[in-house]
Amino acid sequence: MKEFKRHLVTAALPYANGPVHIGHLAGVYIPADIYVRYLRMNQQDVLFVCGSDEHGVPITIKAKKEGCTPQDIVNRYHQIIKQSFADFGIEFSNYSRTSNALHHNVSSVFFKTLYEKGEFIEQESEQYFDAQANQFLADRYITGTCPKCSSEGAYGDQCEKCGSSLSPLELINPISTITGQKPVLKKTKHWYLPLDKHEQFLREWILQGHTEWKSNVYGQCKSWIDGGLQPRAVSRDLDWGVPVPVEGAEGKVLYVWFDAPIGYITSTQECTKDWEKYWKSEDCKLVHFIGKDNIVFHCIVFPAMLKAHGDYILPENVPANEFLNLENDKISTSRNWAVWLHEYLTDFKDQQDTLRYVLTANAPETKDNDFTWKDFQARNNNELVAILGNFVNRVVVLTHKYFQGTVPAKTTLLEIDTDVLAEISTAKQAIAKNIENYKFREALKDAMQLARAGNKYLTETEPWKVIKTDEQRVATILHVCLQITANLGIIIEPFLPFTAKKIQSMFGMNACTWNQSGNVELLQTGTPIGEAALLFRKIEDSEIDAQIEKLQQTKQAMNTNVNKTDVSPQKPLIQYDDFSKMDIRVGTIQAAERVPKTDKLMKLTIDTGIDVRTVVSGIAHCFNPEEIIGKQVSILVNLQPRMLKNIESQGMILMAQNSDGKLEFISPVSKVDNGSAIC
Ligand code: 2FM
Ligand code: ZN
Repeated sequence: MKEFKRHLVTAALPYANGPVHIGHLAGVYIPADIYVRYLRMNQQDVLFVCGSDEHGVPITIKAKKEGCTPQDIVNRYHQIIKQSFADFGIEFSNYSRTSNALHHNVSSVFFKTLYEKGEFIEQESEQYFDAQANQFLADRYITGTCPKCSSEGAYGDQCEKCGSSLSPLELINPISTITGQKPVLKKTKHWYLPLDKHEQFLREWILQGHTEWKSNVYGQCKSWIDGGLQPRAVSRDLDWGVPVPVEGAEGKVLYVWFDAPIGYITSTQECTKDWEKYWKSEDCKLVHFIGKDNIVFHCIVFPAMLKAHGDYILPENVPANEFLNLENDKISTSRNWAVWLHEYLTDFKDQQDTLRYVLTANAPETKDNDFTWKDFQARNNNELVAILGNFVNRVVVLTHKYFQGTVPAKTTLLEIDTDVLAEISTAKQAIAKNIENYKFREALKDAMQLARAGNKYLTETEPWKVIKTDEQRVATILHVCLQITANLGIIIEPFLPFTAKKIQSMFGMNACTWNQSGNVELLQTGTPIGEAALLFRKIEDSEIDAQIEKLQQTKQAMNTNVNKTDVSPQKPLIQYDDFSKMDIRVGTIQAAERVPKTDKLMKLTIDTGIDVRTVVSGIAHCFNPEEIIGKQVSILVNLQPRMLKNIESQGMILMAQNSDGKLEFISPVSKVDNGSAIC
């Protein structure tokens, strides 16, 4: 195995269009953090970089929906995401963001280098265009029927149902998500990275050179390469992103998947002026932690970009995970089907390690896995509380009870003692091997196995009984248990850093290195031990029921929305100026009478605060004149007057219409002055 002087570990940049949830932690950030903590404990030179992915269409769509700018959206979520990572002990060397000036510069320079080397194909082609919105429809601005699985609502870049990557032109019955209109085809120029040109290199580098990669990763790469690689557009017609830095590219930005991985380089540059020692030296081991939907970009596209550039190293491994589901359903930000990290911490204060533990023990390393609240409770109560917490607590309490809280001296060791002590180095070695091979579930099992062995030993040796007859033997038993506990305090650190710190501080240990573990004389006789700290607490049924109830409410809300077939689609967007032209006031109905020979029309006399005027309104089928006199209503006062049944109508009353056709006035909740503006 090749030895490396340095390590550069990256974790996928999360999109800043929502908070982070348990799927993010389980798939990417916890495994990456375990790996990095292990390297740091081994005193390796390691940088761990990440940041928010702040470009891309979902962000601009969200901004439009909320009536704010994309920058507002990413500012909000960048902070929330960064805080959640810090709260869960994900210790990046740097957490950057792709909307910052340095990143724009780094990715522009990267693009220009490839451009000047002639690594792109420049090509004009027909793309879908929304004539009403006057905009090309990139990626998620277009939906339609998936050509692969026939499901509705597939996006221009991907079908979320079957996971296929798509291009907008493949969609059946495409529709603009901006206006709901059928798009037209229009010519536009873009830059393409010819992946086909790099096929031979990718085949040799991955399919022959990296047979050790996880089978899910290797398998996906093989199927992409064997399927024949095509040129990929690296620019888009959008106004949010890194502008394409060449002449004749006005109104075009880099495709989000071109600039996002360059974000790893930017984040490293922010971290150290020696960033080139990591990115441009074969002495450095580059590892990308990602989810399975990112495999093609990290194993095929980004390496092709790096290779085409020529100055950069390639990843040594890309240990991608599969997906975590929640209670048997796909986690989804847009459907709010998730356990959000910031919400978890309000409900389970200071219980970061419980979630870290459950998500590692149940990590989707080789196949999709399911998170359930019942399993969460069972693993906490039956494993963390009953095994690890119980063992450490019993050992510390007994040491205080029998030996004034200091490590007692051992005497003759029996076979049962040497057997259990041998488990310390067995666990250490197994954990190291598994972490180095990205098998974090197994590694955690190895750590828990040591706690299990300690618990069993304590139960079998029964020091609380032996103390009555043989204090020396009890001293040996507790000496052995304390050595196991102190070792646990080190070897669980990559997985459960908060708990490890508590154990270490009970024993007066800090800044522990990996090498200190595996030692059966880690604690010297006579070392004072602190009071027993609470490591884990039992989680009650009522807490779990509350979480399940919360999810059921989400599901109900989802179903209600799905069944709302009568709500008409949103009309095309307007500018604020269009809205501000409308002068809407509160007025009071002074008189009302039906318009003869009509079913629906009512002649109303309204005090608008400006004047008293006549309005003819189509409400007679819903109200009697007597019942509406004195009511305050909303009236559009600057609508061009028009004649209705020979009566001049000088405005329009605003009404809400139910799906059954019933009308309701839009009235202030409490009385306001006539003439008050509605804005
Ligand atoms: O899938 C995602 O969430 C992407 N934002 C990951 C980007 S990883 C890297 F390329 F930046
Ligand atoms: Zn599909």
